[in-house]
Amino acid sequence: MKNNYLPIAKAFRLVQKIQQSQCSLSVVRKQMRFSSNVSQNEKSFFITTPIFYVNASPHIGHLYSAVIADCQSRYKQLREVRTKFSTGTDEHGLKIQQAAETAGEDPLLFCTNVSEKFRNLFNTCSISYTDYIRTTEPRHRVAVEHVWSVLRDKGLIYKGSYEGWYSTQDESFLTASQVGDGVDSSGQNVKISLESGHKVEWMKEDNYMFRLSTFRHQLLDWLEADRNAIRPERFYQAVVQWLQDDLPDLSVSRQKSRLQWGIPVPGDPNQTIYVWLDALVNYLTVAGYPGKHQQWWKFAHHVVGKDILKFHAIYWPAFLLGAGLPLPQTIHVHSHWTVNGKKMSKSIGNVIDPLERSNVFTTDGMRYFLLRQGVPDSDCDYKDDKVIKLLNAELADSLGGLLNRCTAPALNPAQVYPVFYPNYFPFEPTEQSRAISEDYHMLSAVGNLPSVVECYYEDMHVYKALEAINACVRQTNGFVQRHAPWKLSRQNIEEKHWQDTIIHVALECLRIYGLLLQPVVPQISNKLLSKLGVKPNERNWAALNFLPRFHGMECPFEGRILGTDTDVLFNRLERPSVKGPRPQKYTSKHA
Ligand code: MSP
Repeated sequence: MKNNYLPIAKAFRLVQKIQQSQCSLSVVRKQMRFSSNVSQNEKSFFITTPIFYVNASPHIGHLYSAVIADCQSRYKQLREVRTKFSTGTDEHGLKIQQAAETAGEDPLLFCTNVSEKFRNLFNTCSISYTDYIRTTEPRHRVAVEHVWSVLRDKGLIYKGSYEGWYSTQDESFLTASQVGDGVDSSGQNVKISLESGHKVEWMKEDNYMFRLSTFRHQLLDWLEADRNAIRPERFYQAVVQWLQDDLPDLSVSRQKSRLQWGIPVPGDPNQTIYVWLDALVNYLTVAGYPGKHQQWWKFAHHVVGKDILKFHAIYWPAFLLGAGLPLPQTIHVHSHWTVNGKKMSKSIGNVIDPLERSNVFTTDGMRYFLLRQGVPDSDCDYKDDKVIKLLNAELADSLGGLLNRCTAPALNPAQVYPVFYPNYFPFEPTEQSRAISEDYHMLSAVGNLPSVVECYYEDMHVYKALEAINACVRQTNGFVQRHAPWKLSRQNIEEKHWQDTIIHVALECLRIYGLLLQPVVPQISNKLLSKLGVKPNERNWAALNFLPRFHGMECPFEGRILGTDTDVLFNRLERPSVKGPRPQKYTSKHA
């Protein structure tokens, strides 16, 4: 069949578009109307998750923070950037002290048990941290004591008295305007934090105060000079708004009689350091502070949930400015997961255990869902049904189906990456060409995909990257469907060559998808790339040269034997036979 559909001028426009896919990142960024302050020349990258409170077991919100940071760290590694990635647990403070008391356990043992649950979850879910910090470690105490001494010696900490509202649940001081009326679980009238809904109590204590008020202008200057310091934009705006009002000085210690579980104030054993000062310093501890920390600290990026923005965007930069240390490069903020429209809570009974769900949906399935559905700017709702629908549609049917079709022995009896015959899919249309304009459109989209995905990964809008990849996967499925290679006869040399070309193009698309998906679903990507015969040293960002044969270059994969794994890429998940909230009713077809 000859192609009569492609007018030459149109073909040339499309080819030009493909060539433009090599265009610089800045151009693509301009086209996409956003920018990231992450320099392409950056050779080191230090990313952190918040450290997790050990008063309760991990839930999907915690895993979400970790998966976002992990995806970023893996992406940077693909770009051959030297990477450090820290996570860990926040183990001091009143909240933990009370939780250990309630459990009737020794506080350190209590912390160790829950800290291990987080570590186990992260190991299971392929969170590739390089440092796991616990604030009860001696190295951390050294760093906190050092920061304290520097701030004190600079006159930024003074002995005073604090009177005001405190929420133990949030370990946070609140002004009168942040407090409202509420009822507790036993129906008692109580004062609550308007933001978190947690109970607050009036406290009056002599303790140490930090001169936060003196940093307001410096904080505003920092934000004015770097509009990307806090992403996404709406959270940057929120912080700028908060800084329009005066900042009160901050209480940075508690009397030992009330809080024993923490780091004592250097030189004053009757006071314990405020847990947020203690916790925030973890980022410096991991960087090597007070020793050789410079090689990492200036490359720091924090991932945080919206509920802890004030601590990271006001207190933390103020402490750093006070201590004469560089500010973080970016604070990446994400919104929250609700479950069936409600905030997760033990009393409602809607807390989703990520380990339990990962057993059913697989860890890559869980990662994919969180990153595909999680929108940093706004809250998202979790439903098991949504997970099943999404994973079946995108991982099992669309991506898995495409791989399966193109590597099935019926269509690919030699089990090789077949040869691309340029005559049938020429750069410039000829009489022999069989490709039609939709095919050139697909080539253009896949050629541009790495730049598009790069912009979204840089900006931590992973859901948009996955949306773009998915759209291309659909186009490739359309391409294969349109040309129905299974209908072509391998006995006829022309048909065989066209069939090989179709499969070569589809495998090249799959190779690009596999490479780009590595930060999100490392196991599935590995399976896919291994099936295509892509070696470990052919999987970095530089390997994203799509369809070199189309551009007249050599393709190292042509003729290569495919991997021998015959497993499907992702098993379809079955809907529960009986409706119910428990995960064990959900099963994987082949598990
Ligand atoms: N210990 C502090 C952080 C100190 S960092 C110096 C803390 N811990 S936390 O365990 O309560 O929360 C850790 C992270 O989980 C935060 O980023 C928080 O926003 C995130 N999440 C907690 N609940 C969440 C959801 N429901 N959804 C998404 N993320 C949520 O805060």
